[in-house]
This record gives sequence, structure tokens and C-alpha cells, in this order.
Amino acid sequence: MQDQLNALRLEAENAISVAKTTSDLDETEVRYLGRKGRLTDMLKMLSGVSAEERPKLGALANDIKRQLEIMLASRRKQLEEEQYSKLSETERADVTEPGNRPPEGHLHPMTKAINEITEIFERIGFVRTRYPEVDWDFYAFESLNMPKDHPARDEWETFFMDAPVSKKGKMVLTPHTSNSQVRELERGEFPVRMINIAKCYRRQIDATHVPMFHQFEGLYVDKGVSIAHLRGVLDYFAQEFFGPERKTRLRPYHFRFTEPSFEIDITCGVCGGTGISAEKQKCKMCKRGWLELGGAGMVHPNVLKAGGVDPKKYSGFAFGWGVERTYSMKGGLNLDDIRILYKNDLRFLKQF
Ligand code: DAH
Repeated sequence: MQDQLNALRLEAENAISVAKTTSDLDETEVRYLGRKGRLTDMLKMLSGVSAEERPKLGALANDIKRQLEIMLASRRKQLEEEQYSKLSETERADVTEPGNRPPEGHLHPMTKAINEITEIFERIGFVRTRYPEVDWDFYAFESLNMPKDHPARDEWETFFMDAPVSKKGKMVLTPHTSNSQVRELERGEFPVRMINIAKCYRRQIDATHVPMFHQFEGLYVDKGVSIAHLRGVLDYFAQEFFGPERKTRLRPYHFRFTEPSFEIDITCGVCGGTGISAEKQKCKMCKRGWLELGGAGMVHPNVLKAGGVDPKKYSGFAFGWGVERTYSMKGGLNLDDIRILYKNDLRFLKQF
């Protein structure tokens, strides 16, 4: 059997070296090493050999198998290289032929909105800042004139962190961007002209809420800042972001951290502020001609104090609006379910 194996090896080695094409080589491989190949047959016959001889013959057969596999691989490589070099004699690459364009993506609509908002405020001297999105209770609530037991804290539906409590209280996932106000005031540089755009988190999920969303927070503090400045800045933003035909109004409201406080409304982009649709019906988008944008007001003296600022010397205004909400009011983009923004559904995202 040893002689038979050695003879088979010679025969197979010869067949490999005379193969002219890779398909010849494939046939050779099947003939010797395939499931019904000749070497495989011999390996099967080993069970009939005496127990002393079996290990030696088995080792020899496996050794032959391994060597043939190595030879096959190197001959295959050689044949392929030959084939390729011949190809270049008969074929030429046409470098003028148009290539295949790689698929091109674009920024997420919310990233675009954030960039646009940043640029508008930068044009009038505001500076984009970054503050923690996981912050202490002190910055998220307490310093904003919301004492410990104030019911507003429950309404925020806040995510509290399971982390050690410090002098500044528990850690929370910021439920709004207003945590940036006192952090910015603590820097002690005037005038303050901050635009802070960040992620916010609340325990809410339905067609108009997502647990992670974005807000942009403006803060302007200097000597002699008045409501007229607030109006001027917000009108500038509204005209740049929504278009010159849109108008804003201030509506009295209540926030703990501003006094007086307002909600800012903008004329509806669908009905042009009339409340009546083109079909002479109540406008489906706004019903009354106005859409609610977000909150604003004159910074409360207690907030200035919490940031180490003397309210007798300085005054300021602040505003905080949702990016998703503000964006969806642009040009009447009426998202009936805002969760779609974060579902990674390309059919939706590709439209922007
Ligand atoms: N933080 C408020 C919210 O999340 C929004 C807000 C209202 C921010 C009035 C302000 C402000 O800076 O002055 O609902």
C-alpha cells in the first residue's frame, strides 16, 4: 500500500504540473482529492490494514494530501497570473469611460437645522457653547429658581442617574438646555451672548415627543438689556430661518427662571397666518393662524444671583426652543409623527 501511495503521489504531482488552465487544475483536484477521488479512496481503504501498519500509512497518506494541496494552490496562482498578464496584451482599460459613482449620503435633517440655527445667531454675535448633557440638579433646576419641592420638577419627567449625589445634588440627563445659563454666567465674562444647542432627555414618547430631542438656548446678559432686544433678536432669527413674510408675537406665560416670561408664536406657514386654508376651511396645521415656537423671557434676578451676577448692574434675556419643533414649522413641513426623525428610515431621510 505504501508503494501504491507513492505512485499515486507521483502521478498527481505530474498532473498538477502539466495542467494548462485553472479548470484543468480543478479537474485534477477532484480526481485525486475530491470526495470520490483516488487518494480519498485509499484513505478509506486504511480501515482494512493491520493495526501496526495503519498509523504509518495514515500519516503518509495525510502528508501526501497536504503536499498536493500546497502544490495545487501555488500552481493555481501561477496560472492565474499568466492569464492576467495575457489579458493586458489583448485588452486595454478605457480611462475615459465614466466610473461608478459611490453612493453619496448627506447630513441628517436635524444636523442641518442645528448648523443653520448656529449660523444665524453667529451672524449677530452669539457664540455657540457646549455644556454637559449629564448635569447636576443644581444647574438643571435649583439655580433656575426651581426650589427642591417645586412641582415643576415632576412635570419635567426627568431621567435621574444612579450616581453618587454631590453638593450640587443628583445627576440628571438634562431635560432642557437651560442648565447652560448659570454655567455660562459663572464664567463671569460680559457681555454674555451664548447660543447653546444640545440634546435633552425626557420620559416621553408619542407622536409629538421623543425621549431624546434637541433644544437651542440663547442667553444675552449685559448692562441695560431690555425686552426690545429680545424681540429684535428673535425677529431676526425668525425672518432668517422661516422667511421674511413670517411674523412673530410674544404671549405672556410663566416660567420660574424668567420674569416676565413669554411664549413666542409665529404666523403659520401653511395658511399665511389667516387660520383659513386654501379650501376656505380651518387650517389643519395651526387652526388659529399662529404656531407656538417656544419660551423666552427676561432672566430672573435669582438666576443672575445663582451665577454670581449682580442683578442691579446687569439684566438679560433668555429663550429655549426645540430644534425638532422649530424645524418642523419651517415651510409647513407637517410631520404627523416626529419619531420618524430617529428611525433611520432612509426612504424618509433621503427627502431632505
Ligand atoms: N427650558 C424651557 C423648556 O424646556 C424653555 C425656556 C423657556 C427656556 C423660557 C428659556 C426661557 O431660556 O427663558 O420648556
